[in-house]
Amino acid sequence: MKGVLLAGGTGSRLYPLTRITNKHLLPIYDRPMVQWAIEAVVNAGIRDLMLVTGGTHAGEFLRLLGNGHEFGIDRLSYGYQERPGGIAEALGLAERFADGEPVLVMLADNVVERSIRPMVDAFCASPVGARILLTRVEAPEHLRHLGVPELDGSGRVVRIVEKPDDPPSHFGVTGIYCYDAGVFDVIKTLQPSGRGELEITDVNNHYVAEGAMSYDVLDGFWGDAGESIDAYYMVNDFVRAYGANKS
Ligand code: G1P
Repeated sequence: MKGVLLAGGTGSRLYPLTRITNKHLLPIYDRPMVQWAIEAVVNAGIRDLMLVTGGTHAGEFLRLLGNGHEFGIDRLSYGYQERPGGIAEALGLAERFADGEPVLVMLADNVVERSIRPMVDAFCASPVGARILLTRVEAPEHLRHLGVPELDGSGRVVRIVEKPDDPPSHFGVTGIYCYDAGVFDVIKTLQPSGRGELEITDVNNHYVAEGAMSYDVLDGFWGDAGESIDAYYMVNDFVRAYGANKS
């Protein structure tokens, strides 16, 4: 299994901080944000990684990460997204890198308290379809900023609604996904959403419709440090107090 870290986008929700750098290079406690996602992926046993970024600060990633060896990566590839066309479009740039293998995809602004290895191991045991990681979220106003699954009586995902006005459950879809190599064909069928982007939720709903979607519910803290300035500080406070990526 290979890893794809998505570190593009304009980071507009964190303006003006993101006028001078890429969101994923802003500090979370004692290191740049992207390092926490790299640690999560490497700790899950994945050593062959591609980082996809864009915009004017892409060179800074090379300066920070180099060949990746210092971070436990065997081979680090880079992809460049010409314009911010959405998470699914950014993932599409990794097709040749994946070369027919399944991929673990992680949004580089996501921070987890506990290891994501159980999810990766579960997917590797049967690497077909897609597997997503859910997190329990109590506040409806927080769910309205996320992808939210509707679950049926037996706990299967019926559909995922992106940024719902009326959240259909108390779970948020984190930015951590496992896909088989068919994901790149799914991306080619997508149409841009209302916000003009290829949505990862549309990819996930494709797998739901095929009956090929499974999920795990994450243990411990999860945060999307790019969601808002308050979320950014909430993640900082958490990591400073309790750390991240614990086994
Ligand atoms: C993206 C996804 C959303 C998911 C979130 C997790 O949202 O579209 O489904 O819940 O990441 O971080 P975005 O950060 O692009 O608004």
